[in-house]
Amino acid sequence: MADADDYRSDALVVFGVTGDLASKKIFPALHSMARRGRLDFPIIGVARSGWSLDQLTRRVRESIEEYGGGVDGAAFDALARALRYVGGDYRDPATFQALCKVLGGARHPVHYLAIPPSLFGEVARLLLGSGCVRGARVILEKPFGRDLASARELNRTLHAILPESSIFRIDHYLGKEAVQNLVYFRFANLFLEPIWNRHYVESVQITMAEKFGVTGRGKFYEEAGAIRDVIQNHMLQVVGYIAMEPPSTTYHEALRDEQVKVFRNIRPLAAQGTVRGQFRGYRKEQGVKPDSQVETYGAVRLYVDSWRWEGVPFYIRAGKCMPVTATEVVVTLKRPPLRKLAVGANNRMRFRLGPEMAIGFAARVKRPGEGLQGEPVELMLADRALGDEMEAYERLLGDAMRGDPILFAREDAVEAAWRVVDPILGDATPVHEYEPGTWGPSEAENLTAEAGGWHNPR
Ligand code: BG6
Repeated sequence: MADADDYRSDALVVFGVTGDLASKKIFPALHSMARRGRLDFPIIGVARSGWSLDQLTRRVRESIEEYGGGVDGAAFDALARALRYVGGDYRDPATFQALCKVLGGARHPVHYLAIPPSLFGEVARLLLGSGCVRGARVILEKPFGRDLASARELNRTLHAILPESSIFRIDHYLGKEAVQNLVYFRFANLFLEPIWNRHYVESVQITMAEKFGVTGRGKFYEEAGAIRDVIQNHMLQVVGYIAMEPPSTTYHEALRDEQVKVFRNIRPLAAQGTVRGQFRGYRKEQGVKPDSQVETYGAVRLYVDSWRWEGVPFYIRAGKCMPVTATEVVVTLKRPPLRKLAVGANNRMRFRLGPEMAIGFAARVKRPGEGLQGEPVELMLADRALGDEMEAYERLLGDAMRGDPILFAREDAVEAAWRVVDPILGDATPVHEYEPGTWGPSEAENLTAEAGGWHNPR
């Protein structure tokens, strides 16, 4: 993206370097950067665990073998050469003094806080005290806060230390190729614009289904639940891109301005349009309370009260232990008035966002033969496995190093998104059990009854 701040960061500090996120996402992204010859800065890992640099290097190798599609010798060597390690407690100023020493002459480090959100404030304060936040940027993982009040508090803490332009709140959905294509496709093709509104669109559905459960992340999940984990952020970002007005191309922040307008226009969610579910067996996961009320599935109906979308229901559901892993957006058009000709499914635009990317348009054509009988067809406008495209984390890390914030969640957007989900957090609605391998609790079927039910991705 263009218009980055005028300096490039010259070091990357990863807090929580021995954790899950570093293993699954950050090391593979750095390895891939090295493969493209773009890793030209030192990486300083910080963790409590009292590891050695050798141990960390081994961990990086394992992580790339498991999550990075295999080790490339030269790229791995470059990554290993760039690695440094600082051990110590995040609450101890001595850790930060040691960090400053290792940072040496770096003038613009990026501090990536890949640690539990409850530690963000404390680490930010100690960074400030240590002096190694001067000229720096920070990257924070989602969820950013636990609700609107805590997100505001966290924003206040961070702004006491750094300007908004130096704060990068990651939502990796914004860095996904297929999600970027949503925006591109919408605005690069004029044929959509006349029908992309309440006059022609009957409903919008987004399903984020994951076949796996909480896979060892029970403790994290107990704190989060599906609504905080993916609906407040990933799913609402997708709504933002589907519902936004065309962003002007004359200034850099236009995209984020349009996104935030959508979030502000979404009516805060209500218990009535919300269904929470929990897969059978969740309570036996490590780190999960035996009487947990946390949802592993959430379904909501929301409305964007704008001129364009007034009255059009947006249905969102996200769940673990579903029959498949797939994320899809389906935009259903209204039926033509000649009902006799248009028996069967309505026209639909389908955007598959993962694991592979596809854009399809479902229409009806006449079945050969006598009479005017129709049959459904889907015109595929794009259909490809996501191959060597840049992974979301690599793209976003590169943007943060260059100081380009456009694919990160801005302060006002994060707060507006919390305002949407705040009323349904916690125990505001009951949690219904569902069988693993199904499409969630049957109660969720009622939500979409008026729209002909959910579209289950294959
Ligand atoms: C993360 C959530 O942000 O996104 C996980 O914490 C979820 O629970 C993951 O599994 C999904 O990401 P992706 O890129 O695999 O769709």
